[in-house]
Amino acid sequence: MNPEKYRKQYRLPPAPDFSWITKECPDACPVWCSVDLRDGNQALVAPMTAEEKLYFFSYLVKLGFKEIEVGFPAASDTEFRFVRALIDEKRIPDDVTIQVLTQARESIIRRTAEAIKGAPRAIVHMYSASSPVFRKYVFGKSRDETVAMVREGAALIADIFKDDPNVRFEFSPECFPETEPDFALRVCSAALDEWRALKSRRNIINLPVTVEYSMPHIFASQVNYLSKNLPNRDNLILSVHAHNDRGCAVAATEMALLAGAERVEGTLFGNGERAGNADLITLALNMYALGIDPGLDLSHIAETSAVYEKMTGMQIPERMPYTGKLTFTAFSGSHQDAIAKGMRHLEASPGEKWCVPYLPIDPTDIGRESGDRAIRINSQSGRGGIGY
Ligand code: KIV
Ligand code: ZN
Repeated sequence: MNPEKYRKQYRLPPAPDFSWITKECPDACPVWCSVDLRDGNQALVAPMTAEEKLYFFSYLVKLGFKEIEVGFPAASDTEFRFVRALIDEKRIPDDVTIQVLTQARESIIRRTAEAIKGAPRAIVHMYSASSPVFRKYVFGKSRDETVAMVREGAALIADIFKDDPNVRFEFSPECFPETEPDFALRVCSAALDEWRALKSRRNIINLPVTVEYSMPHIFASQVNYLSKNLPNRDNLILSVHAHNDRGCAVAATEMALLAGAERVEGTLFGNGERAGNADLITLALNMYALGIDPGLDLSHIAETSAVYEKMTGMQIPERMPYTGKLTFTAFSGSHQDAIAKGMRHLEASPGEKWCVPYLPIDPTDIGRESGDRAIRINSQSGRGGIGY
């Protein structure tokens, strides 16, 4: 191994502000946007069929998602037909908005527009990589040319949907953390500028950790910089979309919420490219454990796990936060003893807030076995567990 091979790839904002860290937790849950059917699906060994996507879509609706990225319709016929089926077969409930991904290229934007024609509500999500590596080696474009490409794409979208107030717009500067913050601000502002004339819509700037290269507080400081400097901040929604290459997507998302973000894109159980996306179930239940309404119905987690495993072919690890088979199981004798005593105390004290040692939430709230039934015996259990 050779650490000299590596350098820090992220770019810190000028005079980074970390004052947001004094905030303990968000005041309310963010707007959740599931990207299971697009980012999650594109990372599967065997992507879902249209029927499976339809079933998964209905299940996401049942869990309470109000914004769902349903695909990249210009990428393939299957994707295009799936989006059309959702619209033509009237499968989108009145309070749900579908989201579709497009590159900033004319033919792709026009095909995307055909895919969502007649949708009751939609978000057109345009992305374009903005980092120096992409500009130099992938696109061969200067800063000005990159901005021009975003501006042209955004202008075309604004023109196509100018008479359809039910379509909102989202822009993501792909590889945001490696992009110079002043330049990220410039590309996002260019997209917003093209969309400003269509005043009534609250558009979205989505800041993706396309690949996770930094500790979570660095990403949050980058989000904070955009939150403070984007034009017409009150009229837009700031969203984040973290991948999990360093295993910190949940932490990065939570810190970004403290630093100014108000919407979160992610997937159930963190399925997604490479090490995955931010896991929306962990994020929602982390909020729940702090006494915040998570805005999703996760009360039948075994069913949710089974649907996910069947649709994706993925397996949930046994130690997955909240949802793994062993997550609420105590083998150690001292843990077992403390859980049993905590449960007895709660039973004797109706109305008392949850305070059982070793159990961050009541497992029965999400349909899991009760705290004392989670006790299992192994060679570490000792007298406490056997006595219990
Ligand atoms: O991870 C990413 O950068 C993406 C964009 C398309 C938002 O998925
Ligand atoms: Zn992604």
